[in-house]
Amino acid sequence: MNLINKKNNYLNLITNIENLLNQEQYELSLLANAASLIKEYVLNTNWVGFYLLKDNLLILGPFQGRVACNPIIVGSGVCSHSVLQKETIVVKDVHKFVGHIACDEQTNSEIVVPIFINNRIYGVLDIDSKSFNRFSKLDKYYLEQIVGIISSHIKRIQLQSEVKSLI
Ligand code: SME
Repeated sequence: MNLINKKNNYLNLITNIENLLNQEQYELSLLANAASLIKEYVLNTNWVGFYLLKDNLLILGPFQGRVACNPIIVGSGVCSHSVLQKETIVVKDVHKFVGHIACDEQTNSEIVVPIFINNRIYGVLDIDSKSFNRFSKLDKYYLEQIVGIISSHIKRIQLQSEVKSLI
């Protein structure tokens, strides 16, 4: 796929994810359907999913792919690195990343995007590929946009449930 097609593919994903999440009322369902849609659009990936930060652990959330490591103690692995650095981590070759946690030995590259809610880390979106150097600046740019959309909908759902609990 060339750059223009990749960009258009991400724009379609953004339109679809916005439509899907607009109607969502439940946080867990939102994450589950978001993982499914991202897996469908972001090609050449073998794992797409969420880890959610609870105390000092990253707990496995909804995902598409093979059984994954759970929980991850914050401090080890690419996901933790993203949480601690508060930024997206792109790993061209996971075998060269010290501390990488190999849930699936077929994975060769990875991207982890932190999810912020009210300026605090809520969790991460983690995507793996069997190809080396799968994730480019374009992937990082659009996946950060997508995580922004997911985050704004989680915030909306959390606010709605807060309001409901007050009535
Ligand atoms: N490789 C990740 C662990 C999660 S799996 O890739 C699904 C890490 O090093 O944090």
